[in-house]
Amino acid sequence: MAAWRVRDFHEDDLDAAVRLWGDPRTSGEAPIFGLSDLVSAVRASEPAVVAAVADELVGTAVATVSNGRAWLVRISLSSAWRNRGIGSAMLTELERRLVAAGVHRIDCLLASDDEVGALALRHSGYQVRQGMVFYEKLEPVGPADIGILDRLGGRMLRPGTWAEVEGMAREKELIERRVILPLAEPQLAERLGLVPPRAVVLFGPPGTGKTTFAKGVAARLGWPFVELFPSRLAGDSPAGLAAALRESFALVAELERVLLFIDEVEEIAGLRQPRNLSAARGVTNELLKLIPVFREQDQRLLICATNSVHALDTAFLRHGRFDYVLPVGPPDDDARRAIWERYLRAMPHDEVDMTAVVAQSGLFTPADIEFAARKTAQLAFERVLLDGGEEKVATADVLRGIAETRRTLTPEMVAEFEQDIADFARV
Ligand SMILES: Nc1ncnc2c1ncn2[C@@H]1O[C@H](COP(=O)(O)OP(=O)(O)OP(=O)(O)O)[C@@H](O)[C@H]1O
Ligand SMILES: [Mg+2]
Repeated sequence: MAAWRVRDFHEDDLDAAVRLWGDPRTSGEAPIFGLSDLVSAVRASEPAVVAAVADELVGTAVATVSNGRAWLVRISLSSAWRNRGIGSAMLTELERRLVAAGVHRIDCLLASDDEVGALALRHSGYQVRQGMVFYEKLEPVGPADIGILDRLGGRMLRPGTWAEVEGMAREKELIERRVILPLAEPQLAERLGLVPPRAVVLFGPPGTGKTTFAKGVAARLGWPFVELFPSRLAGDSPAGLAAALRESFALVAELERVLLFIDEVEEIAGLRQPRNLSAARGVTNELLKLIPVFREQDQRLLICATNSVHALDTAFLRHGRFDYVLPVGPPDDDARRAIWERYLRAMPHDEVDMTAVVAQSGLFTPADIEFAARKTAQLAFERVLLDGGEEKVATADVLRGIAETRRTLTPEMVAEFEQDIADFARV
């Protein structure tokens, strides 16, 4: 059997070290340090040794050092070369280098007792501390991203935001299946040859919850939410707007992951634009150029929302730019009930006649219901304050709140939306 020897880690060992990493582990647990930790440790010339048989790499031991303390990132050993003392020999060599670097304490976290390296650690005099519990939290935004997010006005949303989208079961299911899950389960998607969506359009009448859905998707993915406001991007000049768009997309490209939301996208990608037509055309063209570049990066999603999908430039909606064109429509009876129940939860009330409430709020958008609920609470407040009586919201208050709220939708708008679905939806 050929002899092995331990030596320093060289730069050209990296490929072999990465391959060794994938050598089946004995334990099913994911290791505490990932492959990227190994790569960044050796790139930063942290102490590392390898075991080699002739030209073949059969083991690696890599550490990181800070403030006199070292962490063993990983002890790898080719399965054919286990139980021969190679692990202990690598540890001995690595320790010499660590001590020379001023280290007086060396720690190693293994995912389980039988992970590669456990035997070597025990043979090399490492004490096991049983019963420790390992806590871990993955921050979705790295330090480099924070400055960029600040400049873009981006932020993280509360994880509960998606669950707070009430009713709208059809839209929720569609968005969850087509958009959220492929991005949340990229490995499974890749194994099945499914390319996760990079850009989608949400269209529907005002106040139906397009912005709410976009925020919910960001919250579900745990990605920062960045909203671009075409009207605020650049004063009055279309040329300035194109430049501002370019700059915003360049900043977004530096983020590790992001949900980019553009509301009222017809303002920058509309067919009929006011003022200087050719300059407005330039803004649309700029966006058409930016989207393919945006699509090339992983871990990002562009959501564009519009009230008038029929007013969008036809080139804009083409396959290859947007993966889906999804309708977000007026809430049906069930959705209105769910949304009402959410707002009524915040008010003390006895039995409310929900059938009447749902029937009376036909053609209400979620935004209308939100307003009517506010009105209801205000009416109850005034009634109790001025006339006394029980501090409770009654069905009559809700129905008055509804009566005093103007509907956003008309039957014509609903018909137009149905036509838009037939003409433009791509689900
Ligand atoms: N499913 C829902 N459940 C509860 N509240 C909702 C729901 N959808 C929307 N809302 C509320 O209704 C209001 C309007 O929603 P949102 O701003 O998302 O609509 P929109 O479609 O983006 O409107 P616009 O077309 O005017 O931009 C928000 O205050 C939101 O909190
Ligand atoms: Mg909106």
